[in-house]
Amino acid sequence: MRFGHFDDVRREYVIDRPDTPLPWINYLGTEAYFGIVSNTAGGYSFYRDARLRRLTRYRYNNAPFDVGGRYLYVRDDATGDYWSPSWQPTRSRLDEYECRHGLSYTRIASARSGIRVETLYFVPLGETLEIWRARVTNERDTAAELSLFSSIEFCLWDAQDDATNFQRNFSTGQVEVADGVIYHKTEYRERRDHFAYFACSEPLAGFDTQRDTFLGAYRGWDQPAAVERGAAFDSIAHGWAPIGSHHVRLSLAPGESREVVFVLGYAENPQDAKFDPPGSQTLDKRTVRPVIEHWLRPETVAEGFAELGRHWDVLLGGLRVTTPDPDTDRMVNIWNAYQCMVTFNMSRSASFYESGIGRGMGFRDSNQDLLGFVHMIPERARERILDIAATQKATGGAYHQYQPLTKRGNNEIGEGFNDDPLWLVLGVAAYLKETGDATILDEPVPFDNAPGSEAPLYEHLRRSVRYTQDRLGPHGLPLIGRADWNDCLNLNCFSDTPGEPFQTTENAHGGAAESVFIAGQFVLAAKEMAAIAELRGLDAEAAEYRSAAEKMTGVIIEHGWDGAWFRRAYDFHGRPIGSGEDDEGQIFIEPQGMCVLAGVGLDDGLAVRALRSVAERLATPHGIILQQPAYSGYRIELGEISSYPPGYKENAGIFCHTNPWIMIAEAMVGNGDRAFDYYRRINPSVRETLSEVHRCEPYVYAQMIAGRDAPTHGEAKNSWLTGTAAWNFAAITQWILGLRPEAAGLRVDPVLPADWPGFRATRAFRGATYEITVRKAAGATGRVDHLIVDGERVDGTVAPLAAPGATVRVEAVIEG
Ligand code: BGC
Ligand code: NOJ
Repeated sequence: MRFGHFDDVRREYVIDRPDTPLPWINYLGTEAYFGIVSNTAGGYSFYRDARLRRLTRYRYNNAPFDVGGRYLYVRDDATGDYWSPSWQPTRSRLDEYECRHGLSYTRIASARSGIRVETLYFVPLGETLEIWRARVTNERDTAAELSLFSSIEFCLWDAQDDATNFQRNFSTGQVEVADGVIYHKTEYRERRDHFAYFACSEPLAGFDTQRDTFLGAYRGWDQPAAVERGAAFDSIAHGWAPIGSHHVRLSLAPGESREVVFVLGYAENPQDAKFDPPGSQTLDKRTVRPVIEHWLRPETVAEGFAELGRHWDVLLGGLRVTTPDPDTDRMVNIWNAYQCMVTFNMSRSASFYESGIGRGMGFRDSNQDLLGFVHMIPERARERILDIAATQKATGGAYHQYQPLTKRGNNEIGEGFNDDPLWLVLGVAAYLKETGDATILDEPVPFDNAPGSEAPLYEHLRRSVRYTQDRLGPHGLPLIGRADWNDCLNLNCFSDTPGEPFQTTENAHGGAAESVFIAGQFVLAAKEMAAIAELRGLDAEAAEYRSAAEKMTGVIIEHGWDGAWFRRAYDFHGRPIGSGEDDEGQIFIEPQGMCVLAGVGLDDGLAVRALRSVAERLATPHGIILQQPAYSGYRIELGEISSYPPGYKENAGIFCHTNPWIMIAEAMVGNGDRAFDYYRRINPSVRETLSEVHRCEPYVYAQMIAGRDAPTHGEAKNSWLTGTAAWNFAAITQWILGLRPEAAGLRVDPVLPADWPGFRATRAFRGATYEITVRKAAGATGRVDHLIVDGERVDGTVAPLAAPGATVRVEAVIEG
């Protein structure tokens, strides 16, 4: 069952009923000012940091699920009938409804009783504000006297404090209303230098800034007193809950349409702030007034919106594919790329499942996100890498997360996830292959942001590798620390005392538990380091990295192989995890993916054997499960993983992030049918027809789909912010379609499904444009042997680097 459809031409997903199984959301903003918006206009906005600079308030885990947002109310002043044109929060019957989620904008249109309202929400490029453009049309054959009310609830900046510290917050709220603009100027325990404003293009009939006056006592957003009576109260908030609401009256002749523009923005007082009255430490409106006036003009809005569209044309223009599969084309050309940009901007901070409070930018997460967006915005990838590296400690260890506003490591979560440092090597390697910009390696980057501690980025990479080498366990495998990629596999947690709860011992960070996953990741990273060292002419060092990779490969084969698959780890007591020796958790997906990606077992058949075990034991029609059999109960020596009910999250859920590792591994062993089959199983566009089961948005990946052991097998959760986006993008574009950026050029080495006749692609690479055509005889399952580049035969599969601006035609044929 579907709840909408794709409009590929307009690059939109069109939702045709408001009561989707879950709120289906979208993101506004591309650089500094961001918002989340659901299909019923729920969500919130923030400046750079969803925790520290939250502009509008949102209450998670609410009932209904999604309430609080950018709401408009329309009131028919002749009858007193009022409704929300976005359905929420009044949930009144609508005669028509449509929500179009596009690239960084959302348009919600509806009609009731002959009044049509279409609202476009977006953030203009380069601005720290959002636009709501409401187009109200009277489709009746009589005149309409209407009221339009806007509403948002301000957050007192720090979202954590806002949601908890009521003894203070109920007394701090401050607003100002001047020339029809509502300013929110609450201080946050510091001298105020930032404020928010909410403006409207029409003359106001009234306004409200105190929530409980606007709503009325004991009322909710579905029944505001001001709307019900048809007149704002002109309330001024002193403490309690500051809001912004404009009241506009519209008289529309039959067939008449009117555009009303609202602008919600964030501003900081300039250095030379001038306050009125002087010394009052209030806000300085000088710089924002012209901005507000500019954006309240409908022509400016139309132009700003067109510019946003052109921005996306450029971003998406770098890679376009035409394959026999429309779901692949749609994801690669539009939605998967879009999701990669969103994960770049948000990391794991703010979605409808990430509260914007708990998690800032993840060290491992952002490094992996790079794989999906580096080709679109290499300059910002560079900046991101340097930011991440500056949070690395001198030991090579890494803070697990950092706050985007301060760019400082997050001490609450700390370090000790022993896979973290190696992701930096993999992220930088991806950047280098895409851009060829080796200067980044010489950039001075501090450790832990400490001034004076700068060392070239290359030194950071060295320490990342050494961090693993300095921390090997009893079998010579890397110590896992608090956890590796799998946050919930906490193998250094145990209790010495029976009956005592979960305990993290002194040993937890060093511990004795070892990870086969990190071992595989180390092999991959050491090989990348060898290539990077060679690039710098450090041949002896390169040889050391290669031999370290080889040695670790040997250790994996000796201690990490369970007979038919790779083991997952060894626990604190030296017992194997992910082994036939156990009755549960016998086989985990992660080491099968990561070891094969690193090349372990490719020569000796182990890789093929491991992948067969994955197919036999872990694959389901809804995707590949993380491990089997599920843990049936809590085991203290495994930690959080066994606390999940079977089939959910890390305990045998389909943790989608890991699936593309298997797709890539299958492509590496030449199995195009299986790689592509796995790709389609979790492709959200393919799953669109199952929306009543899948329940999350059909245009983006979710982190998890409930596994076979779960009563809700096939149900997705935690959409949007997941490494699934970047890795699936890599799996389909770089391995199945085989378009891989490399130091020497663009590799064209597809591993396709047997029944494909080929595909075409356009790929921007190092300033040139590669027009690629791959042809294949139906049924052929082989690989490309040579290329024809601009009419000349090139042996192998690398189309050489070309002059910037050049268009290079690449043809490849798969014969056998
Ligand atoms: C989740 C993980 C997540 C971690 C973050 C765990 O509860 O299962 O998926 O990465 O929390 O702290
Ligand atoms: C989600 C986290 O963001 C990611 O870093 C982690 O690898 C997975 N959960 C698996 O635990």
